[in-house]
Amino acid sequence: MRIYFDHNATTPVDPAVAQTIARVMTEEFGNASSVHHFGQRAKAVLDDARSSVAALIGAEPSEIVFTSGGTESDNFALRGVAEALEPTGRKHLIASSIEHEAVLVTLRALARRGWRTTFLPVDASGIVKPEALAEAMTDDTAIVSVMHANNEIGTVQPIAELARIARERRALFHTDAVQSIGKIPVDTRALGVDLLSLSAHKFNGPKGVGALWIKRGARVTAILTGGKHERSRRAGTENVPGIAGLGAQLAAKKVTTEGARLGALRNRLEEAILARVPGTAINGAREPRVPNTTNISFEAVEAESLLIALDLEGVAVSTGSACSSGTLEPSHVLKAMGLPSPRTQNSIRLSLGAGNTDAEVDFVVSKLPAIVEKLRSLTGARVRS
Ligand SMILES: Cc1ncc(COP(=O)(O)O)c(C=O)c1O
Repeated sequence: MRIYFDHNATTPVDPAVAQTIARVMTEEFGNASSVHHFGQRAKAVLDDARSSVAALIGAEPSEIVFTSGGTESDNFALRGVAEALEPTGRKHLIASSIEHEAVLVTLRALARRGWRTTFLPVDASGIVKPEALAEAMTDDTAIVSVMHANNEIGTVQPIAELARIARERRALFHTDAVQSIGKIPVDTRALGVDLLSLSAHKFNGPKGVGALWIKRGARVTAILTGGKHERSRRAGTENVPGIAGLGAQLAAKKVTTEGARLGALRNRLEEAILARVPGTAINGAREPRVPNTTNISFEAVEAESLLIALDLEGVAVSTGSACSSGTLEPSHVLKAMGLPSPRTQNSIRLSLGAGNTDAEVDFVVSKLPAIVEKLRSLTGARVRS
């Protein structure tokens, strides 16, 4: 039995999406920029996908720029706005301290080139306080970037309120919605943002394809230059099969029913672990949270050892952000939340997705108490129940 509880790292491609990709690869192989029949057919595939993505997030098709995924979309938003607004004298960038590395490392790179940066704090709930943003804003703030849902703990940020604060100071607002799309409703107009990143492989689409939504009129300079693809906003022959497979329509259809099902499954998993394994606690606020994610600390247990022990039982979980796995660095998200150092190293993330069942939750719950007890006995740790 193999159980996959790591859907925030990536998801399996939906079989219907995989079929679409395979068909487009062989049948619609034209270059979407070509004038002839083959090119026009490929362009029609792009147009369809663009309309699906736009419908999913409450946008206009012309506002969607296809990219190679979440990392490129985040880079494009931040570097693109920084470059576009540099001549206006706006030299300040703001992000939350619990962003994905795609945002954090990009901001640090811009800081080395003379930009002022502010990283907003969060408290133990893992939620950015609007007052902290209001305090950090200055007249030269170019862009504020706060993720919609956090990849490690799942908390949903008060984006509409934060975006309103940025708008009052005429700064642009970017949200990384890579972890919210397909899990909770995402509507650009309701959120009131200017730019939004998404990535197909987080909602049962293929890897290496995503999009940046750029509100009409927002000033963003292209970072990939060359041909006039994507209305000169992102050069490079489009990944037509990948874009077709982005499967936005599919995610839109499933979000309401699947969200409720996963929420019930996640809550049951969480409650059972807290009840049966002594010395456990949920990291971050329980609400508002995406329905599929939980992050739990296990007192006196090394997260890496727990991950390996679970893997030996056929259960895949994560110690946090997939990109930082392989390093033993404690999670920057849990650190920013002020969790004490043993707890940042004792925490694992379980993220559910399409296909996960009650029986899988039961299996994990039945295995965990003994695994944890064994790991604790190896180090001689004593934990009160
Ligand atoms: C919140 C968030 N942003 C960005 C990314 C990067 O997306 P991609 O893997 O498509 O580059 C991830 C992936 O882990 C993510 O969770």
